[in-house]
Amino acid sequence: MKQRPFLKWAGSKYQILEQIAAVLPPGRRLIEPFVGSGAVFVNTDYKQYLLADSNQDLINLYLTLQDEGAEFIGYCRSFFTQENNSGSRYYELRQEFNSTSDIRLKSALFLYLNRHAYNGLCRYNAKGGFNAPFGQYRQPHFPEQGMRHFLNKASRSTFKLADFKETMRSAQEGDVVYCDPPYVPLSATANFTSYSSGGFGQEQQVQLAELAQELAGRGVPVLVSNHATEFTLNAYKSASVRIFLSVQRYISCNGDNRGKAEEVLALFGAEVIA
Ligand SMILES: C[S@@+](CC[C@H](N)C(=O)[O-])C[C@H]1O[C@@H](n2cnc3c(N)ncnc32)[C@H](O)[C@@H]1O
Repeated sequence: MKQRPFLKWAGSKYQILEQIAAVLPPGRRLIEPFVGSGAVFVNTDYKQYLLADSNQDLINLYLTLQDEGAEFIGYCRSFFTQENNSGSRYYELRQEFNSTSDIRLKSALFLYLNRHAYNGLCRYNAKGGFNAPFGQYRQPHFPEQGMRHFLNKASRSTFKLADFKETMRSAQEGDVVYCDPPYVPLSATANFTSYSSGGFGQEQQVQLAELAQELAGRGVPVLVSNHATEFTLNAYKSASVRIFLSVQRYISCNGDNRGKAEEVLALFGAEVIA
């Protein structure tokens, strides 16, 4: 059965898992340089995993869960109370999250914020403070089952705070890499160079495509997903396979236009087996 990640995450690949799984080549270890909520990790079965991301709060949460196990799940659950589901408590706990240096507390609060913030938004201000507003959900779900599933698989996983370039360069023969970077903008009018999702702009997108080609050249297959735009089709032109998907998403920035966005899966360096 398809497993939901325990975090809400922008750009999660839960919706197109089957298509991704069908193209991912076999290998000993799966490397995800942009792991996010780990939708692909929790729904595949590789012997080993290297899971990295540049979001420190995310990686600290995974490391704490891996280290402490079930006890930490119980600790996280203790924040999901009726009393904590109000605007005033949310903003107090958000303040505590932003000021504490206790990694265990910060990690549990990251999960609390993820489930209580508006739309599961993970947003930081220029000083690095979490600033997503309260979501006003009647009863935020505590993702116990999702955490347990994640924990079970964490024993064969290494979690790492790292930039994608470092993670990709560390790949060796026998590895398979799945790259799910922040999306390139859909509209040609969007200013790409100033577009940043955590500072991920055109330069990074090009570096990623170059690294994918380089790894493929030394026998490590790399699958990349992104919006299908003129830019990505050009950047991924050396891929051995490109598959196009239509995915239902909010594509307008003012949120009033639910439409279909074309996505591309580009595989560098291996043939599809299916
Ligand atoms: C589209 S999301 C990945 C979603 C993931 N596949 C999932 O199913 O949830 C992109 C991720 O890239 C991370 N990221 C952004 N810039 C990065 C960088 N330079 N290096 C590594 N990770 C980065 C973000 O923190 C975010 O988690």
